[in-house]
Amino acid sequence: MQVDITLKKTVDNSYSIVIDEIPKIHFDTKVAIVTNPKVAGLHLGYLLSRISAKELYIITVPDGEEYKNQQSVDTILESLFNHRFNRKSMLIAFGGGVIGDMTGYVSSIYQRGIDFIQIPTTLLSQVDASVGGKTGMNNSYGKNLIGAFHQPRAVYIDPYFLTTLPTREFGAGVAEIVKMAVTFNKDFFEFLEKADLKDPKVLQEAIKQAVQTKASVVAQDEKEHGLRAALNYGHTFGHVIENETQYKQYLHGEAVAIGMVMANETAIKMNLMDEKEASRVISLLKKYDLPTTYKIKDIRSFYETFFLDKKSSDDKITFILPVGIGGVKITDDIPLGTIMCVLNKFEAI
Ligand code: NAD
Ligand code: GLY
Repeated sequence: MQVDITLKKTVDNSYSIVIDEIPKIHFDTKVAIVTNPKVAGLHLGYLLSRISAKELYIITVPDGEEYKNQQSVDTILESLFNHRFNRKSMLIAFGGGVIGDMTGYVSSIYQRGIDFIQIPTTLLSQVDASVGGKTGMNNSYGKNLIGAFHQPRAVYIDPYFLTTLPTREFGAGVAEIVKMAVTFNKDFFEFLEKADLKDPKVLQEAIKQAVQTKASVVAQDEKEHGLRAALNYGHTFGHVIENETQYKQYLHGEAVAIGMVMANETAIKMNLMDEKEASRVISLLKKYDLPTTYKIKDIRSFYETFFLDKKSSDDKITFILPVGIGGVKITDDIPLGTIMCVLNKFEAI
């Protein structure tokens, strides 16, 4: 006996990403702004001058990647239950990618899913984490291993928040911008080569182009069945570097910067990129003081750590390799000898 259920796709999850000063918005519902003490201290006053609601609550969780965990998720849930949030209530993620991912995750599970809005305050979260609906948290097995795809109702990217961002955090965001350009948009890469992202107008244009690139990829492959994996360029190597250095030495974007250089070396060996193109990527990363090299201590252990990557399965590792500048190839078919040759190069540094 069998009963089939045919689900009609009636829900349109499309949304707008506004890159400008946050407009004045009033919500006729219960709203909770989820943030951390640092972001609240710097910018909550400004946000509250733009956002109002029938009932407005502020929920703070401790600042840091180490708090992107079940305990913080429980803190947020607890507050929603205490304030009797219902399915029409709304969450606002106000902070960097840590706050964005966790708030999105809570909104995906609270009463089986409520709406949320992203108001990202770091460059990395403005150009990457706030767009595309990946939400989640970490656990003892690794980063972002628990989560859901849950798209925000809107994203408000206000470059004003970046005026207080520390230089290293700014650079980490630039790495993700470079990632989008190398993999999908040669003209954008050439724009970045000439641009000074410290100039607010130029930065706003770069944010727009990065977001457009990401939005177009997500529109084609929301749940990462194919193309979206390309946004992980630099991450296969970068995650190993973060893991080996216990997430202490490098910011995520910095590890991705080194990871892109390693991916480029692999692409050179696979005749997908030439040395000159790889040097241009390094020069662009160096312009924002991003690290571009890393001494591998033990290539066997480095290689084994690849298998913790979500994109790896069984004995296959998925690599995202640039094809020149502006193109990308997703492949799990790189000869072991080629990978070892690349790792050897970084061991010999
Ligand atoms: P973060 O959220 O930890 O922010 C970095 C630091 O900057 C924090 O101390 C934060 O409090 C502070 N900060 C935030 N805004 C500030 C401001 N305007 N001025 C001064 N300080 C400010 O880190 P992040 O780099 O924004 O995000 C990293 C997280 O994003 C990771 O957890 C990563 O897994 C996730 N991520 C998610 C996606 C996705 O698609 N969902 C994509 C990329 C990264
Ligand atoms: N940051 C990768 C993605 O959103 O798919």
